[in-house]
Amino acid sequence: MRMRKKKNLEQRMESCSALWVREPAQMRGLWRTKMPQAKRLRLELGCGKGRFTAETAAAHPEDLYVAVERVPDAMVIAMERCKALGLSNVFFIDGDAAVLDTYFAPDEVDLIYINFCDPWPSVKHSRRRLTYEGFLRGYRKVLRDGGEIHFKTDNRDLFEWSLFQFPKAGFALSEVTRNLHANGVQGIMTDYEEKFHGMGTPINRCVGTKEALPDVPVLDTLRRLMPQWEVREVGEEDMQAVLALLEKDRAFGELSGRQPTMENLRDDLAALPPRCLPSQKHYVAIWEGGAPVAVLDWLEHYPRERTLWIGLLMVDYNQRGRGIGRTVADAIPKAACAGGMDSLRLACLEENQAGHAFWERAGFRNLRMGETQTEGERQSVWIMERLAENEAL
Ligand SMILES: C[S@@+](CC[C@H](N)C(=O)[O-])C[C@H]1O[C@@H](n2cnc3c(N)ncnc32)[C@H](O)[C@@H]1O
Repeated sequence: MRMRKKKNLEQRMESCSALWVREPAQMRGLWRTKMPQAKRLRLELGCGKGRFTAETAAAHPEDLYVAVERVPDAMVIAMERCKALGLSNVFFIDGDAAVLDTYFAPDEVDLIYINFCDPWPSVKHSRRRLTYEGFLRGYRKVLRDGGEIHFKTDNRDLFEWSLFQFPKAGFALSEVTRNLHANGVQGIMTDYEEKFHGMGTPINRCVGTKEALPDVPVLDTLRRLMPQWEVREVGEEDMQAVLALLEKDRAFGELSGRQPTMENLRDDLAALPPRCLPSQKHYVAIWEGGAPVAVLDWLEHYPRERTLWIGLLMVDYNQRGRGIGRTVADAIPKAACAGGMDSLRLACLEENQAGHAFWERAGFRNLRMGETQTEGERQSVWIMERLAENEAL
């Protein structure tokens, strides 16, 4: 939406400060504290000047309503409208729908409206459309299971294209219509809708309901993302080659206090934390030209459901500097996400400064200090964490 710069914008925004949430990230997971009696939390993405926002919030005083709009000149008009109606169940975020999961916690939202989003007609810009699969996957993160997206547009091409995006992102379609108002006006109109309907343009509408998205095994995604290598679980026939790789990194053996031996390798392959099943554990080697160039060990759904724990990533000492570790570290968060996980954790020895810097570059941050016990000796570790990464975004 192109808009002329509003006069006195700051003052006008200020006068709506009761409705305007300036630090939405601080409200993540806490939105219902604004209205504890709220039955549902409804979101609107790209509310524009807010006719739909104001009328919907007024029609549903039992629900909490949050509107996201990235153009403050439009949002201020929407806020003024809601203020004039004396609404106390509606709040505004001057922000971007692309980062919804930084404003809302998983499962916090019941319903999302996308009304007359910018169509971005050129194919090269299709990823900017608010109904692009990548955006929809982002909305999934904050919508509860069974939560809905209500989508309206005058743009038939955008609509037909969007009908393919919803199922790809795990939304079941219903209420699909290409002429919503064929038999008289249905529901509350937006500013754009009123204009297009007045011009005789048919309005398209559909509802997408969040369904479970089939998880892709982490290993399958790693293989797809790193086609240059063979990635496979370490079997008996691979043990000598993997041991040879581990033996090359003398510094790691000294630092961790655990020397690579065949016995230790067998123990590591079988080791499982309490209450974990063997199916959660994967110890893979990454092969190039018949030799392993790296080993990677992870646990799924550990130490909490939907967290992937990285036990070890070691690149062949003679292959360092080629970016192998970086490539693997970039792929794991995406594979974890496709595998149904929302975060990743690992423990990095406090003394392993190079390792710590490597994981920081890969987006991990210190969560807390912890301890590990190797060969009876306690060592301090940094527990590091990062979010899984939605590949489609
Ligand atoms: C065509 S207007 C429609 C406004 C309103 N929904 C209506 O139907 O009247 C699209 C609106 O979405 C907003 N918008 C576009 N991309 C956005 C994004 N990523 N995050 C938040 N708002 C966005 C634009 O600033 C604009 O106000």
